[in-house]
Amino acid sequence: MSSPKHVAIIMDGNGRWGLKNKKSRNLGHKTGLKKVEKIIKSSIKNNIKYLTLYAFSTENWKRPKLEIQFLLNLLESFLKEKIEKLVKNGVKLKIIGDLKKFPKKIQSSLKSAQKKSDKNKKLLLILALNYGSKNELVNAIRKIKEKKMKINKSSVTKSLYTKGIPNPDLLIRTGNTNRLSNFLLWQLSYSEIFFVKKMWPDFNERDYKNVLDKFKKIKRNFGNI
Ligand code: FPP
Repeated sequence: MSSPKHVAIIMDGNGRWGLKNKKSRNLGHKTGLKKVEKIIKSSIKNNIKYLTLYAFSTENWKRPKLEIQFLLNLLESFLKEKIEKLVKNGVKLKIIGDLKKFPKKIQSSLKSAQKKSDKNKKLLLILALNYGSKNELVNAIRKIKEKKMKINKSSVTKSLYTKGIPNPDLLIRTGNTNRLSNFLLWQLSYSEIFFVKKMWPDFNERDYKNVLDKFKKIKRNFGNI
């Protein structure tokens, strides 16, 4: 009957939402960002301690240049306009993913936002950016080999971007698509998964609360009976 400590979200459906509303895919992303803020606030209200958001995957570079640029601009505006307030409200930021492909300016804003929020304790907001689970696992194996560590579950877990962070209890994917899309494959191995039909820009605090309430009713056995 307990609330999840760690919620992970695949925020899918922005593009389709934008097109369905006879506008552009990018309008979907812009509206999606507003939902990001709402869901962060709602997570704090619901006493969630870790929130991981899949904001840009290693596969998303295949998209048209203009859409990628739009997403990068949104990320920049989020860092410029919103992060300060979140930090004031006790949110700590952590990025998972390979940031080297991002423009230098974004890299340094991300680093400084992480540093500024380092002491915060209310919510750890984990943004997955240029993140891919298969790359993360390959890099972990490389690290283990370099450091001549023993190969076991603990050394793999400690060599992932998510070192020190408990696994998600709950994964929510919006957008009426039932797949994991290379997201946290190791970490989600015992998570409860909720696929939601609504597109991300339509997903609201009530929908979120609904999933959280359903989660609370699940008896989690982790292979036991
Ligand atoms: C998936 O929808 C969404 C993304 C690839 C980007 C998610 C980005 C945001 C919600 C806004 C930016 C967020 C931050 C934190 C700066 P899709 O485009 O794959 O939708 P589709 O399946 O309908 O095409």
